[in-house]
Amino acid sequence: MSQSADVSFIGEDDSEYFRRLFDRTFNNLNTRYLLPADEDEVKRSELHHRMMQFVFQGNNYVGPVKEALQFGQHRRVAFNTYSVLDLGTGSGLWAINMADEFPRAEVIGIDLAPLQPRSVPPNCTFELCDLESGIPYPDGYFDFIHARSIHTGIRDYSQFLREITRLLRPGGLVLLIEPDLIPIVDGRPVARAPANLAAGEWSTFWETYRGCLTRQDIDVTVPQRLTDMLTATGAFENIVKRDGNIPVGFWPKDPHLLSVGQLQWLDYDLLLPALRPMFLFHGLTENQVQSLITGAQRDLYHPVAELSTHINIVHASKHL
Ligand SMILES: C[S@@+](CC[C@H](N)C(=O)[O-])C[C@H]1O[C@@H](n2cnc3c(N)ncnc32)[C@H](O)[C@@H]1O
Repeated sequence: MSQSADVSFIGEDDSEYFRRLFDRTFNNLNTRYLLPADEDEVKRSELHHRMMQFVFQGNNYVGPVKEALQFGQHRRVAFNTYSVLDLGTGSGLWAINMADEFPRAEVIGIDLAPLQPRSVPPNCTFELCDLESGIPYPDGYFDFIHARSIHTGIRDYSQFLREITRLLRPGGLVLLIEPDLIPIVDGRPVARAPANLAAGEWSTFWETYRGCLTRQDIDVTVPQRLTDMLTATGAFENIVKRDGNIPVGFWPKDPHLLSVGQLQWLDYDLLLPALRPMFLFHGLTENQVQSLITGAQRDLYHPVAELSTHINIVHASKHL
């Protein structure tokens, strides 16, 4: 793929790709995306990746990925390769792990910021691109497209799915993974925290987060609607939804779920302060933000209820 106006390749000095806002570092490509692009956010992305590997029993994916990447199954057999795309790659760990697992594949990770390691497998590359402005690859170029925990950066998710459809070859596979932004408390989703509810401050924090995203024109219902939205494209078959609750913290008795819960807890411990700039940007005062974060931390550090997050996982094949 040659360099185009929409894609940047990173040299040693990458300061031009970042900006500062409310004491954190952010990407410079899409100023509406208000989660930081810094070391803590990379750590959070790595924790998220490790947590999902636990959920997938040590794998990087669910669904017929091996079939989609089987040599001889696709149109570019003459080139002896197949192509995998990771949209909103963050730390890039997923792409790196996929490149190791499928050494004959070219794996491309795209993000707003150059957060990924410089030293990667030879079949793995990272590119800068705002996914809201289109993805500069030809129709049908990819065999497998992965997009995980990215909907908070995409204002028109239907258009995003149309772009994924365009990029996939016929028979190619898409895997979408989006956690809900409505917390689960003692097994029940809590969209609005009534007074005296256990983990009320936790729920209020998430309600405020959803409010800020909505003001940024992000549709916070996308995670629950992934299957419907994919079906509405009319371009996919074998649409399979798998969903479930990810525990948050140390309450699960089962050792496997306990590991998942610990990783998710560490992720959220970093997420709470990461949202400070977004809250300030949306006009909350320093005091309001401080009390939102310390309140949510109280519920995270000294839980009086079992917290979880509902996660939505959908894979599907593009019609032949
Ligand atoms: C929450 S992180 C998830 C990272 C990774 N997919 C994972 O599951 O660990 C979201 C990532 O998507 C990127 N992102 C958000 N909106 C984007 C956009 N419009 N274009 C490109 N990347 C975007 C962010 O920079 C961030 O690295």
